[in-house]
Amino acid sequence: MAEVNYKKKKIIEITNVTKAFGAVTAVDDVSLAINRGEFVTLLGPSGCGKTTLLRMIAGFDLPTKGKILLEGTDVTQIPPNKRPINTVFQKYALFPHLTVFGNVAYGLKILRVPNGEKKLKNGSVKQLYRKLTKAEIKAKVERALSVVGLAEYGYRNVTTLSGGQQQRVAIARAIVLEPKVLLLDEPLGALDLKMRKEMQLELKRMHSELGITFIYVTHDQEEALTMSDTIVVMSDGAVQQIGSPKKIYDEPANAFVANFIGESNLLAGNMIADFKVKFLDVVVDCLDKGFAKNESVDVVIRPEDIELIDEEAEKAQMCGEIISSIFKGTYYEMEVVAGGYEFTVQSTNGKEVGSKVGLHVTPNGIHIMKKMRATNEFIGEADGENLVWMCKGDFELDLPEGVEKGDKVKVKVPFDAVELTDDENDGVIGGNVTQSIYKGTYYQVQVYTDTDEDFLVDTSDEWDINDRVGINLRREKVTVEKVEEEEDE
Ligand SMILES: Nc1ncnc2c1ncn2[C@@H]1O[C@H](COP(=O)(O)OP(=O)(O)OP(=O)(O)O)[C@@H](O)[C@H]1O
Ligand SMILES: [Mg+2]
Repeated sequence: MAEVNYKKKKIIEITNVTKAFGAVTAVDDVSLAINRGEFVTLLGPSGCGKTTLLRMIAGFDLPTKGKILLEGTDVTQIPPNKRPINTVFQKYALFPHLTVFGNVAYGLKILRVPNGEKKLKNGSVKQLYRKLTKAEIKAKVERALSVVGLAEYGYRNVTTLSGGQQQRVAIARAIVLEPKVLLLDEPLGALDLKMRKEMQLELKRMHSELGITFIYVTHDQEEALTMSDTIVVMSDGAVQQIGSPKKIYDEPANAFVANFIGESNLLAGNMIADFKVKFLDVVVDCLDKGFAKNESVDVVIRPEDIELIDEEAEKAQMCGEIISSIFKGTYYEMEVVAGGYEFTVQSTNGKEVGSKVGLHVTPNGIHIMKKMRATNEFIGEADGENLVWMCKGDFELDLPEGVEKGDKVKVKVPFDAVELTDDENDGVIGGNVTQSIYKGTYYQVQVYTDTDEDFLVDTSDEWDINDRVGINLRREKVTVEKVEEEEDE
């Protein structure tokens, strides 16, 4: 019984951790608990703060705010070498002049282990330490090499190994020290697809064999879904959702998670009543209630949840035409145009291109998600007649009466009030496209400004991730309110 409780205990608790590098907030108020022996994956697009969070857990970076507990002890300020944690980085920095054995043995040679106690004359007790013996080191290295499948490779020079083998050496080097927690930062990033798949299985095997806690970083959703007990989906430095792969796939918390995890059909909709959602001009039954009347929501439908039936069938909710069909080994992946939207459908029942079909989704295949944000909001400063300074740009906007130059204002910018331009010099300010999600009738694009703010934009144009764009505002759709200064300011 005690064993079970012990295993269940949380090994790492991260509480309200924030890390800022100057104006950039790399990790934004993250709280997260990790159980002993768990395989946890931090998943998110490039730049979302995965490595930064990992580096704080390892102790290479100090949080700007918040704390990190390891087995109940606050380690926030403890240096990396004093934490029972080891890290495998994306770039496996092996020592090129050492053999495989030498690389793995390196950490053990400098290790000191407790070796009894000595009673001092003054009555206090001093802990004694010793080096490991040659035989102990040999035994540990051999065990680690056999765990990573390199038992016969000890004598080889690391520079003669393949990428995958070198990565195994890096893992052996980390596990040989028997850390309580192993951090892996995109450890398979440099490998080709086939080797990646093999190593994913290897890592899973090692995880169950060693029983230590793995915190794994990847931006590959498939890798996260196949390997993890728990996935932490991050974007913009913040946690979007924490849950089992199944939970995250089946019940994404918001449009970002839905779009990031797996193929899905994502549509803009309105809740017209409890259990009724309208999208693409059809009303469909769902399992969700408690929304405001006509509240706009995101609707996710997984490709495998759409049933293709006879177009005349009574239960057909929409009619469409198959425009492509590819056999994927165990199922067909088809594109079906219906109501002006291209649905992706997966089914074992393949249909020919050009055929007319009916589409049916049962209520539990319809996932309704609250909008993450209903409008963009910024704080700016009135900068003259009908001019607001915000995000380091002077925007021409209508100021309410009584606002004078220098007053602080709140600016509400609906998603369709933002106009993006190809040439960033045609905009008041510039930014990078970081996300583009098609929602059935329009694209929702996220643009990050150079001042680390983001605009959500509804547009009929398609923009690519990393496009540089200019931002203008449609003045008539933007509202500006005076912010009453607080007394203590
Ligand atoms: N030492 C630093 N100084 C300034 N900014 C930094 C520093 N380290 C990270 N950042 C910034 O913090 C943000 C998060 O970076 P981080 O490396 O944690 O992302 P990531 O999720 O690991 O991305 P990737 O998948 O590309 O590795 C980025 O905007 C990055 O430029
Ligand atoms: Mg990284």
